[in-house]
Amino acid sequence: MSGAPFTIAIDGPAAAGKGTISKGVASHFEFAHLDTGLLYRAVGRRTLEGFGALEAAQALTAEVLEQGDLRTAEIAQAASKVAVIPEVRAALVDFQRAFARRAGGAVLDGRDIGTVICPNADVKLFVTASAEVRAERRFLELSAKGADVTRDQVLADVRERDARDAERSTAPMKPADDAVLLDTTDLSIEAALAKAFEVINTKLPATR
Ligand code: DC
Repeated sequence: MSGAPFTIAIDGPAAAGKGTISKGVASHFEFAHLDTGLLYRAVGRRTLEGFGALEAAQALTAEVLEQGDLRTAEIAQAASKVAVIPEVRAALVDFQRAFARRAGGAVLDGRDIGTVICPNADVKLFVTASAEVRAERRFLELSAKGADVTRDQVLADVRERDARDAERSTAPMKPADDAVLLDTTDLSIEAALAKAFEVINTKLPATR
């Protein structure tokens, strides 16, 4: 495989399967993977601890993303709230773009990768699924970790976050014009991955 940069942007709403698809793609093609939601979650966690969102974004380091469990429902909401602030988003751009250009290929998943962070990405996927199916997946994930949540709460949370993420004025969640849509509502993980591989294989240079 050549070491040239090759960027794959995977966007979509919460629990659509972005994370699973991104990890599967990264492992299959031996690319590095960045879950950009973790950046916003790390900033959101700092605000829950009483710090300012912008200061937290400016001070963010890669190590912080590994510390503690960032994938809680409370931190998800805090992340979605700090993600509305244009200065917070601006403070996180360089880190994401540097990651995207690393040698050997990179997969970034989030909400605005194909539209704002990497508008020239080699492959763009927008992964969706119905709100009900996404909420059920997130409910099972959170319950497996022992979280005390109900299906109704998780569905309400997913809907609230979708609305905030899609309606904000800076870098709203939306498919890039040249993104391939992948609806995972009725797809198994294997079938969703097979579709993603198919799209990526058509764009990979023959020399890789
Ligand atoms: O992907 P996630 O659920 O971990 O993301 C948490 C929140 O972070 C999400 O509700 C909105 C925000 N986010 C964003 O605005 N832009 C991204 N590229 C990634 C996440």
